[in-house]
Amino acid sequence: MKIIKAKNYTEMSQLASERIFDKIKNVANVTLGLATGGTPTRTYQYLIDDYEKNNTSYSHVTTFNLDEYIGLSPNDSNSYRYYMDKHLFNHIPIPKEQTHIPNGLAKDLQLECEAYEKKIDNHGIDLQILGLGSNGHIGFNEPGTNFDSNTHVVNLADSTREANARFFNSLEEVPTKAITMGIRSIMKSKEIILLVSGERKKEALTRLLDGEVDESFPASILKQHPNVTIIADKAVLGEKGVSLAYNYAN
Ligand code: F6R
Repeated sequence: MKIIKAKNYTEMSQLASERIFDKIKNVANVTLGLATGGTPTRTYQYLIDDYEKNNTSYSHVTTFNLDEYIGLSPNDSNSYRYYMDKHLFNHIPIPKEQTHIPNGLAKDLQLECEAYEKKIDNHGIDLQILGLGSNGHIGFNEPGTNFDSNTHVVNLADSTREANARFFNSLEEVPTKAITMGIRSIMKSKEIILLVSGERKKEALTRLLDGEVDESFPASILKQHPNVTIIADKAVLGEKGVSLAYNYAN
């Protein structure tokens, strides 16, 4: 596991976008795994800026998002489909049929999960972008999730609903369930970038770096992946960050 310390949120986002450009420019038929939430929005803005400047092609790019709330339609401004369209897809020339997000309105959720996992397997994810939940979740894999899990339905932790209530009018409006790629689905990615920004993630990042690999802290599994880079800003790493030569390669 490598750690890159960014000066601030802007630099973290810039560094992440550069890694993504690198894949878009150098991998034929590249597949990206994408996250939503507050952390990656500026990274996506850098992708949009790059497209506007360089007319970057997206015809060879396929994307898979980590998760989607159950019960929200794609037109709901809190659905992750809406988020992705708003923050990225509507501003770059990616064919919409090449962008995949679980269908939170599927009649048969189990079937939806199985079909999603199959599609991921057919493509293979070259680079997965992750954010970090304060409780250690990645995707919506809450503490206690089996490390062998594929795409599945989850009950969101109270702390996750509380953290995400800032995007809704009230806590009651935050869905209680979601579909998420599983831990195994995420770990199949060839490369993973974990973005961590802001003081409120300090405790979670410290536990990730110093703690055991344990299902009670889902992100800890990343220590067992051969190609993970954490890009974290000063607010979360503190002054010591850059000198930490963490290398948990197994
Ligand atoms: C989002 C996702 C979540 C978030 C995490 C951090 O698709 O899967 O794991 O990455 O909850 O969210 P923010 O970035 O809002 O702090």
